Amino acid sequence: MKNTNIVVFASGNGTNAEEIFRYFAPHPSIKVCGVLTNNPRANVINRAENHQIPCRVFNREEFRNGDLILGILQQWEADAIILAGFLWLIPVYLIDEYPNRILNIHPALLPKYGGKGMYGMHVHRAVLASGESESGITIHLVNQEYDRGKIIFQKRCQVNPQDTPETLATRIHQLEHRHYPLVIEQWLTGENDRHSEISGE
Ligand code: GAR
Repeated sequence: MKNTNIVVFASGNGTNAEEIFRYFAPHPSIKVCGVLTNNPRANVINRAENHQIPCRVFNREEFRNGDLILGILQQWEADAIILAGFLWLIPVYLIDEYPNRILNIHPALLPKYGGKGMYGMHVHRAVLASGESESGITIHLVNQEYDRGKIIFQKRCQVNPQDTPETLATRIHQLEHRHYPLVIEQWLTGENDRHSEISGE
């Protein structure tokens, strides 16, 4: 049976990407075949190199135009795209090429605290400024609008009165690292030994 090849798009540190590399390295049917980033200084580039995963950097024009990106994805025989802290809006040509085959993770309980400009610490600051008593993570399919695709998984966590954006970010990252690889696996294979952990809210 053919492997399912996934490509990770990331713009920054890449701690989620790292968990994905680790989880799928020994996987029998899912392989991370490459990383694409818009940021030549992103730490995810070092992480990919450490895992001997090919990584390519692109600029805004290349992303808009599409030829380079589609060419690389074809060369890597990509079946699905995983966004892991990727900050640019996904263009229509990619959604058309990978319909329901692009997954994103967002560090809040969508539809709250989503949309343009809502990423990373901006999200945690907004959650705290609104006095929310809970936050969490959302994993969803990607469509033409920021953070509006079909939600396939959410997990909640408490927001404590003494939380800072940094402490909340740490707790959210822990949730992301624990669940994202498992949700990706389940999404791609329909199977997962720890399915009950994923779906059991
Ligand atoms: C993650 O918390 C991810 O949910 C968020 O960026 C962070 C990347 O961290 N994504 C968004 O805010 C997308 N709107 P990482 O680089 O350490 O994985």
